[in-house]
Amino acid sequence: MLQGTNLTKDFSVRLGLFRGNATLRAVDHVSLAIQPGETVALVGESGSGKSTLGRMLLGLIPQTSGALNYCGRDFASLQGDQARKFRADVQAVFQDTSASLNPRRRVGESVQAPLLFNRRLSAQQARIESAQLLERVGLDPKTFAARFPHQLSGGQRQRVGLARALASQPRFIIADEPVSALDVSVRAQILKLMQDLQAQEKLAYLFITHDLGVARLIANRVMVMYLGTVVEEGNAADVFAHPSHPYTVALTLAAPIPDPTRARPPRHLMGDIPSPLAPPSGCRFHPRCPFAQAICKTDAPPMREFEPGHLSACHFADQVRAPK
Ligand SMILES: Nc1ncnc2c1ncn2[C@@H]1O[C@H](COP(=O)(O)OP(=O)(O)OP(=O)(O)O)[C@@H](O)[C@H]1O
Ligand SMILES: [Mg+2]
Repeated sequence: MLQGTNLTKDFSVRLGLFRGNATLRAVDHVSLAIQPGETVALVGESGSGKSTLGRMLLGLIPQTSGALNYCGRDFASLQGDQARKFRADVQAVFQDTSASLNPRRRVGESVQAPLLFNRRLSAQQARIESAQLLERVGLDPKTFAARFPHQLSGGQRQRVGLARALASQPRFIIADEPVSALDVSVRAQILKLMQDLQAQEKLAYLFITHDLGVARLIANRVMVMYLGTVVEEGNAADVFAHPSHPYTVALTLAAPIPDPTRARPPRHLMGDIPSPLAPPSGCRFHPRCPFAQAICKTDAPPMREFEPGHLSACHFADQVRAPK
């Protein structure tokens, strides 16, 4: 349904006075396809390019190179009704609801806006349907429709964000860290709500998260990003049972508790993610990799398939893979 081929995004960043500009490659030749009704989790540490990829897929920022297709049509060729359909079909839910909810608008009005402007309902129909949408996300419209976003808790705001996204009757939601700012108990409620909505509406999700526990709970398929590239992807069950890239192994070791509703002490990967302004040669993960050999410093490993749909980009994936 939504497809990206060799997507690359460069940003020009200022290095400082007299030092000019440099090019930062936030996403480097990433290809992905998301099918109707599936949940793809995009995981990776901070700065790996997850949000940048999500924003390109939403059409919010243009790609530097590569192709984007929606239902077989190039993004650039979407016009008029097709462009409107794309904007309704593909919705975003962000961690920070202040990006999607106008602070000066009451909750009811925020949910009504897409009903009035995208779906062209009458004012009365929009009021009725926005109340139904609030109910569906677990908010009593009598209590909440007249409130402003700042009068809600984080979990309630995220529910409003979902109601607003659903108002356009989307087929695909790109959710960027939708539960990361929430308390563990609220996090579980919102994840459950998102799963229920998906089952009812046959929605597809691209679920961006740095939390492997969340990915494990919600995803059919997982893509692991490191410094702008995908290093491993596959069926969620396969990837978590047989991680085949040292980076995925490190991430799974850092997140040993599969239940995202339980708090856990933070544990980190060795060292920091290198600067994308000067990515390491060869395999980008080699400076942090316990398996690294000479070849890893010079040759970027290609993606290899280990079981149907399960790919990893590591010269030593055979050694890394957990045995069956
Ligand atoms: N507008 C921009 N201009 C310059 N650099 C940017 C811009 N947006 C993102 N970047 C850089 O691109 C890289 C990827 O950023 P991105 O926000 O996609 O990471 P992320 O994986 O979503 O991280 P996080 O988990 O912290 O949200 C980072 O190094 C970031 O500093
Ligand atoms: Mg991000």
